Amino acid sequence: MDTSSGLEWPSDLAQTAGKVKAFIEEALQTEFKPAETLYEASRHLLRAGGKMLRPYLAFKACEAVGGLGDQAIPAAAALEILHTFTLIHDDIIDRDLVRRGVPSVHARWGEPTAILAGDFLFAKVFQAASKGLRERGIPEATIVSVVETLSEATLRICEGQMLDMEFEGRTIVSEEEYLAMVERKTAYLFKASAEVGALIGGASGETVHLLGEYGRLAGIGFQMVDDVLGLTADEARLGKPVGSDLREGKKTMPIIYALSRANPVEREAILKASSLKSGEAVREALNLVVKLGGIAYTKSKAKAYVEEALARLQPLPETQAKKDLQTLARILVEREF
Ligand code: IPE
Ligand code: IPE
Ligand code: MG
Ligand code: MG
Repeated sequence: MDTSSGLEWPSDLAQTAGKVKAFIEEALQTEFKPAETLYEASRHLLRAGGKMLRPYLAFKACEAVGGLGDQAIPAAAALEILHTFTLIHDDIIDRDLVRRGVPSVHARWGEPTAILAGDFLFAKVFQAASKGLRERGIPEATIVSVVETLSEATLRICEGQMLDMEFEGRTIVSEEEYLAMVERKTAYLFKASAEVGALIGGASGETVHLLGEYGRLAGIGFQMVDDVLGLTADEARLGKPVGSDLREGKKTMPIIYALSRANPVEREAILKASSLKSGEAVREALNLVVKLGGIAYTKSKAKAYVEEALARLQPLPETQAKKDLQTLARILVEREF
């Protein structure tokens, strides 16, 4: 796979993803036929297939500290299940009808079933991690730390999603407030991915922290790029709606920056996209965000976060896994979908 921006994706990303997907398929087999719809709804987005970046991060963090990547598969699967659960609920919150190139879960089965599928996956996270890691002989104390890390990330995601929703109703959001929001809704899961991989690899507390910081900083850059792609990407390639952030009044980095530079008429035009929700109002707002430099500013900020993330890897021994983590950080911000 490549991003067509000249950056090669790691050659073993697909292989790692395959192993994790096989684990997830097994974990989500129907256990109670009369409730088949619940299982179908729960498997829907996982089968549609995402980029699988968080599992890869966990896998590589494990290898980078001298562990065996395969030992981290149950935790990597748990991270992807957790991520997918948040996407199901996120699409309800954001009123988005397409995800991973297919109808979002609530678009297909309705909101009540989508809420249940999310709950179901949320419980699966902890079952998959604890059962799977125990079967691989991972020490109980490590499993407890992994479970703690996963719960911590989930709490932070809920906080971040709450802020994200509240910001829709506001016309002014500071960059600092934005950072507190994206750190929680997105970066903590990247942090957790790096941490659980390092924990399973048997790293010291200090190294777990170091890798966690790499994940957190790269995760902030990742979300900033997601904000850019949400305005500018090719919708078919992105697999989710483009422009919906403006329609929903989201305060993403490009939008916040543009609002801070806009004159009163321009401000009004940007904010109008969310009240009118018309295609034309959204297009006009988008043009203004571009003209006011929101895209360029956000891209450069995202790169700076990734550079910060890369610096955290410095103390780690020179291994192939470390190189892969460096490539991954670049992909997080140079990707086009
Ligand atoms: C989307 O994440 C949600 C955000 C945190 C921006 P990804 O871009 O990793 O989504 P998938 O897993 O590839 O679909
Ligand atoms: C990303 O939310 C974070 C979570 C899903 C928890 P967004 O709403 O910014 O991401 P997309 O653009 O829908 O993937
Ligand atoms: Mg969303
Ligand atoms: Mg959202």
